[in-house]
Amino acid sequence: MKGIILVGGLGTRLHPMTKVTNKHLLPVAGFPMVYYPLHSLVEAGIRDIMIVTGGNNPGAFLELLHDGREFGLEHLYFTYQANPAGIADALRYAEHFVGEDRCVVILGDNILAGSIRPYVEAFARQERGARILLREVPDPQRFGVPQFDADQRIIRIIEKPQQPPSRYAVTGVYMYDQQLWEILPTLKLSARGQYEITDVNNAYVERGQLEYDILPFGWSDAGTPESLFRATEMMRNSDFQPPAGC
Ligand code: DAU
Repeated sequence: MKGIILVGGLGTRLHPMTKVTNKHLLPVAGFPMVYYPLHSLVEAGIRDIMIVTGGNNPGAFLELLHDGREFGLEHLYFTYQANPAGIADALRYAEHFVGEDRCVVILGDNILAGSIRPYVEAFARQERGARILLREVPDPQRFGVPQFDADQRIIRIIEKPQQPPSRYAVTGVYMYDQQLWEILPTLKLSARGQYEITDVNNAYVERGQLEYDILPFGWSDAGTPESLFRATEMMRNSDFQPPAGC
């Protein structure tokens, strides 16, 4: 299983904090933000990880993380998204790295207060398809939101709906098989001018191959001043921390 962390984009919702620096370098409870998704993947047993950089200071991730040794890795892989054309666009840069394998993708501004290992293991047992993680939130309209049928199967995901069809957010942890690479070239630019990860997930829904788990522990994005503050509060009070010495 390969791991991918996305740290591109412009982070405009955090201006002026991100006018000259990359969002994923900002501090969250004593660590640079990117330490949390990296720790999540390593703790889940993933050893081959690519960081897709972009936006401001892309080279800073190499300076900060080196070869990943402080996280117990032997090597880290880096690539560069030339334009911030969306999460699904950023994934294209990792195709060669993933090769014939499957992958776990995590957004660089997603902070989890518990282990994703059980879900990654469930995906490894899954015959084919994709797997996403949901979390109940008070403000689903800020996220991708799943709509369920009477059997609790996801029938579609709506990106930032004004009228959310459920109280769940699709978190920024996505697990994909090889079908990802045939889906990506079929995507069209969305109204906000991006290649949307929600369109990828809906393609798996149409194939009847999107599974999900509901997270029982804290999760937050950190892409707005309010959510950055919430993520910091959450991790100040959590035992699930990057290793000491990082
Ligand atoms: O946090 C979970 C949410 O993330 C999901 O519920 C949504 O369905 C999904 O679209 C996404 O929503 P956001 O609008 O919050 O995504 P944002 O544009 O903030 O990008 C999140 C991360 O993705 C960002 O921290 C870095 C990476 N990214 C984003 C873009 C647009 C890239 O690497 N390159 C990009 O071009």
